[in-house]
Amino acid sequence: MSRSFLNITDLSAEEARLVLEIAERPIVALGRPLEGRGAALIFEKPSNRTRHSMEMAVFQLGGHPVYTRGEEVGFDSREPVEDVAKIMEGYHGLIAARVFSHSIVERLAAATSVPVVNMLSDWSHPLQGLADALTMQQCLGGLDGRTVAYVGDYNNVARSLCEVSAMLGMHVRLACPTGFDADVAELERILLLGAPSVEQSTRPSDAVAGAHAVHTDTWVSMGQETEKEARRQAFEGYRVDDAMMSLADPSAVFMHCMPAYRGFEVSAEVMDGPRSVVFQQGHNRLHSARAVMAFLLGVR
Ligand code: CP
Ligand code: NVA
Repeated sequence: MSRSFLNITDLSAEEARLVLEIAERPIVALGRPLEGRGAALIFEKPSNRTRHSMEMAVFQLGGHPVYTRGEEVGFDSREPVEDVAKIMEGYHGLIAARVFSHSIVERLAAATSVPVVNMLSDWSHPLQGLADALTMQQCLGGLDGRTVAYVGDYNNVARSLCEVSAMLGMHVRLACPTGFDADVAELERILLLGAPSVEQSTRPSDAVAGAHAVHTDTWVSMGQETEKEARRQAFEGYRVDDAMMSLADPSAVFMHCMPAYRGFEVSAEVMDGPRSVVFQQGHNRLHSARAVMAFLLGVR
């Protein structure tokens, strides 16, 4: 059975460091581990960064990406998830999926002998977490002992960010409204992954004070559109703006997985300002996706 990448925690801390190192290697140094093979990229939700970075990463590894919309595949409606997995392994060296329910990627991985990559689920977004770690490493010059702050909804992006940050030795600070926060068991789980400290507050100023990287994400994730107005009210006060950034370390960077909604979770001044590294972060999606697929396919 191949290794899959459904969550950041599918890697050990040592493996996560290796993947970040592979991300910085020249493409030619990776060989062409997907030579002559395809990669299935199945999307139940829209995407810009993930689709393009994954297609290009598959190409750079010598393979051929095949994009399919979720409704064409029809997980459990047109045919069972397990049948999809077993058919696709006959064509492809790797299967990747962006799904509503995390259980779909788990079932794909259990049913197939090729690696499965989670391209975002309701639970986690590990490809984003890797790019976030790579970007922080590049910008902060190292992660061990640094402080990462996340302000907003404790969602799929936040979970993967907290996991990778903890595994790589960062202090983790969360600011989330009650009802949209991490529960005690989740905070304990993150701490046990290796963070020197994990703290959560309802006050953004508590989380951001002295932080070296300040992250946020949309208040309304894909699939939550009917909750848009209620969520916008619940998150008022959690916008990352210049006043909030002024509490962070003077060298702090601002990060966002994108798509970003200026005027909601982040002000335009911060998103487009001098501390923002969001485009470097977005471009790192390509390098980290290539690295983790190379790793799953045996590159060391
Ligand atoms: N950050 C991210 O996953 O972007 P897309 O939804 O555009 O792929
Ligand atoms: N939390 C967001 C991330 C988008 C890349 C969502 O799930 O829609």
